[in-house]
Amino acid sequence: MSSAHSAVPTAGSVPSPSSSSAAAAAAPTVAELLEFVRRTARDEALIASLPLDPEGRTWIRLDGPGGSEAWLIGWPPGTGTGWHDHADSIGAFTTAAGVLKEHSLAVRLPTDGWKTLELTDGVDRSRELAAGQGRAFGQNHVHEVLNESEDVHAISVHAYYPPLPRIRRFSRTGAVLRLEQTESPEDWQ
Ligand SMILES: [Fe+2]
Repeated sequence: MSSAHSAVPTAGSVPSPSSSSAAAAAAPTVAELLEFVRRTARDEALIASLPLDPEGRTWIRLDGPGGSEAWLIGWPPGTGTGWHDHADSIGAFTTAAGVLKEHSLAVRLPTDGWKTLELTDGVDRSRELAAGQGRAFGQNHVHEVLNESEDVHAISVHAYYPPLPRIRRFSRTGAVLRLEQTESPEDWQ
């Protein structure tokens, strides 16, 4: 992670409707993660505090609910994540500005023991998330997220629980998915 944009923001201190010492200790649900990213995406001061760089993505680490890992991310036009998953973490994200495109796979991949995998027909999903729109996902969710705009930055809020232990990165050629590398969170951006 770059240290340039790692300032601790204010969103983590926004009280959750369900926050009590007991609730804070419980693992958050996908619904709670989605509620968090939606609420955070409406925090105009926080969104405006994210530095935007036309050359690459920028980010601020947030404190998500229940010990989750959360991020505010800026996407210059034409940038994307590439195909990846989040292992056993559940998560949610919401576009706060601009439009993001998500391509995902409606299939559970084998966890280990493979290098390439031929996908069957009909497993591809695609959705466009305009400002205010978000989605939650369960374990082993495989996707790529893109800002396909030619001239408009996008900003989004993400939350994951448990905090990301590893990310598997894939390349894709037609129906063939290839495992390229497994990254620890420090490599993620
Ligand atoms: Fe992701």
